[in-house]
Amino acid sequence: MSYVNMEAILGDARKNHYAVGAFNIVNYLTAKAAVEAAEELGQPIIIQTSVKTVKAFGIKEMMSFLKPIAENATVNVAIHLDHSTDVEFTKACIDGGWSSVMYDGSQLTLEENIKNTKEIVTYAKNKKVTVEGELGAIVGVEDDIVVIAGNSAHARPEDCHIFLKETGIDAFAPAVGTAHGVYTGEINIDYDLFDEINQFSSCPLVLHGGTGLTDEMFHKLIALGASKVNISTAIKIAYCQGMVTYTKMNPDQNDPLKLDAFTKEGLKKVVKQHIQFFSLRD
Ligand code: 13P
Repeated sequence: MSYVNMEAILGDARKNHYAVGAFNIVNYLTAKAAVEAAEELGQPIIIQTSVKTVKAFGIKEMMSFLKPIAENATVNVAIHLDHSTDVEFTKACIDGGWSSVMYDGSQLTLEENIKNTKEIVTYAKNKKVTVEGELGAIVGVEDDIVVIAGNSAHARPEDCHIFLKETGIDAFAPAVGTAHGVYTGEINIDYDLFDEINQFSSCPLVLHGGTGLTDEMFHKLIALGASKVNISTAIKIAYCQGMVTYTKMNPDQNDPLKLDAFTKEGLKKVVKQHIQFFSLRD
């Protein structure tokens, strides 16, 4: 079975100290490119959709082209909803065929976050859908969630203990200093905090804000227990720049399939670079 939830993928990653890349795709081309890249490397992959992207297509329409890509893949593929802050929308995506969802209640109080995440976990469990939760505030812009630098907050271990115990989530994203988008200043990651949380976490840890981290940072965080690494901005850049480059090189060309083929190759290259690095076993 190639269309799976995250449990099937992340359990092995955690056990064997490697990470699975989770790439934010925006349409058929980006999804197909990401899955083909994973297939060519023989590695599992998570393709994830932001709420904004799903809303642009519609739940049913988006799943109608994503599911066949996952079902026909030669490697395990999970389709995950990224950063949903809306309980009802998250449930609608579970009903709509996503094999995994992230409920992001990180901007709520701990109590409210626990209550909503728990509600999603209960709803998702019946349908064999996995759930990712978040604590702390990850700086930057992801979809319509904006966290300015001054409002960043690392996850607190005592809150993580309670959150994990109360919610029963399948994957956990604690904020430890990484940021969404392009890094502009110095990157300050609290490796000790990440290590501490991984030691007691009942489920695999997720690293957000993957674009722009150095190989050394990835290596350190994966060794400390990051089992899922999110990459969004690098995909958006590869997609837009691929189109710009092709159009500049071929100003008189008007065959969209050639433009797509060129852009897809660039996307595959970026996805492959990340997967190759993340999947290195100790
Ligand atoms: P980047 O945009 O920094 O790659 O972050 C991706 C992410 O964490 C999506 O949730």
